[in-house]
Amino acid sequence: MERFSVSIEAELLKEFDQLIKNRGYSNRSEALRELMRKEILADEWIEGGEVAGAVIIVYDHHTRDAASEILRLQHEFSREIISNQHIHLDHRNCLEIIAVRGRAERIKDLYTSFRSIKGLKHASIQAAYSKKAL
Ligand code: NI
Repeated sequence: MERFSVSIEAELLKEFDQLIKNRGYSNRSEALRELMRKEILADEWIEGGEVAGAVIIVYDHHTRDAASEILRLQHEFSREIISNQHIHLDHRNCLEIIAVRGRAERIKDLYTSFRSIKGLKHASIQAAYSKKAL
């Protein structure tokens, strides 16, 4: 383990300590390590290589063409989509959790396509695994 010191504004540190408490980290080091890993992963995501993760979308299935567009994209990216979970949240809203795996560039295309669907209420992507290209 390496050690290093950090200069930080008192107010930001106070907020960070609150975050540590909220998320149940045992100390600042543990919290910082996890945040660093997360950011490194986010960067690898951009750099390329193999990635795996989940795309989460929420939409109103009454919105014209949204459901059919989602279905069309799922076929277009059938090689990258491992599984798909559809949850009917209420009368109008649907939640889809789409597990994805593939080349970062291709996953980025997939995500861009999904998030551009008209009538979407939420779109996010979480990279959970990343392996840099050789
Ligand atoms: Ni539904």
